[in-house]
Amino acid sequence: MIILGIESSCDETAAAIVEDGRKVLSNIVSSQIKTHEKFGGVVPEVAAREHLNSINAVIKKAYDEANITPDKIDAFASTVGPGLVGCLLVGLNSAKTLSVIYNKPYIGVNHLNAHVCANFIDSDLTPPFICLLVSGGHSQIVYIEDYDKQKILCSTLDDAVGEVYDKVARLCSIPYPGGILLDKMASSGSKDAFNFPEAKVKEDEFSFSGLKTAVLREIKKFPEGKIPKEDIAASFQYRICDTLIKKTKYFADKLNCKKIVMAGGVAANSELRKRLEELKSTGYTVQAPALKYCTDNAVMVASAAYFNPIKTDEPLLLEVFSRD
Ligand code: KG4
Ligand code: ZN
Repeated sequence: MIILGIESSCDETAAAIVEDGRKVLSNIVSSQIKTHEKFGGVVPEVAAREHLNSINAVIKKAYDEANITPDKIDAFASTVGPGLVGCLLVGLNSAKTLSVIYNKPYIGVNHLNAHVCANFIDSDLTPPFICLLVSGGHSQIVYIEDYDKQKILCSTLDDAVGEVYDKVARLCSIPYPGGILLDKMASSGSKDAFNFPEAKVKEDEFSFSGLKTAVLREIKKFPEGKIPKEDIAASFQYRICDTLIKKTKYFADKLNCKKIVMAGGVAANSELRKRLEELKSTGYTVQAPALKYCTDNAVMVASAAYFNPIKTDEPLLLEVFSRD
């Protein structure tokens, strides 16, 4: 089954064609980073207009790269939510329109499930497994019991991990999008320079606002221009990744599930990937998507349309939603 997927939930306009949920025929991503850089974050109305400007060209490129004509597509899919409503509408209406024109099904996809499905790309991974899902909007540990059956084991009380990365980056005067740059900066700092605290929360909770405040408190002790940014980045990165990995491992042990994967933009983080890799030596099977499938893309949308579509008798009546 060949599916064309469209992703437009935030600041990436993306289209991809994927066969049977695992084989990538094309992958086009048009990033809006340059546009939002000057605002220091994503401006929803500006993002929606950018999606409108680029969606047709992005879809055309996806066909060209796959060397496929639209009549060969078996279904058209898009992210339905969670995300920015004006942005989601662009992808949803494009995919629905294509489905009507070519008389093929429209499939709606949940963005979070799509991130999880990035792990099926170029892989023979099968459920059950535990997934640490960390993006700009969400931080969860999810038990993927079957392709279309999942249970949230743990989620954040306050900020998402990517959001904390971006906020700490801003405190260090690192431009948007801060997460990836903070990750790079951490590589030349010392993780032992600052002992940032770990939140005391319940088993099924994460909390990162205390860590963010602790970082701010340390930064304020230094005069402008003298902030040891590399050390702050390394110590912060160590603490947050340690918390994430420890809790993921805790749930893997509790459920006696030895297969652990990661997903979402923060799954591209070098320290998190290293810490996940280290679990192999203690008997776990681990996996993370290729870097290009961690951050928002449409390959994961086409994969989720195959493995875990939103179930409904009337897909063409699906409406976008902002929050899960
Ligand atoms: O999954 P994603 O592309 O969009 C959402 O669904 O939110 O995730 C974006 C988030 C941003 O907060 C970004 O700063 C973070 O992922 N991110 C990173 C890295 N690459 C992207 N955070 C830490 N280290 C990275 N290497
Ligand atoms: Zn995302």
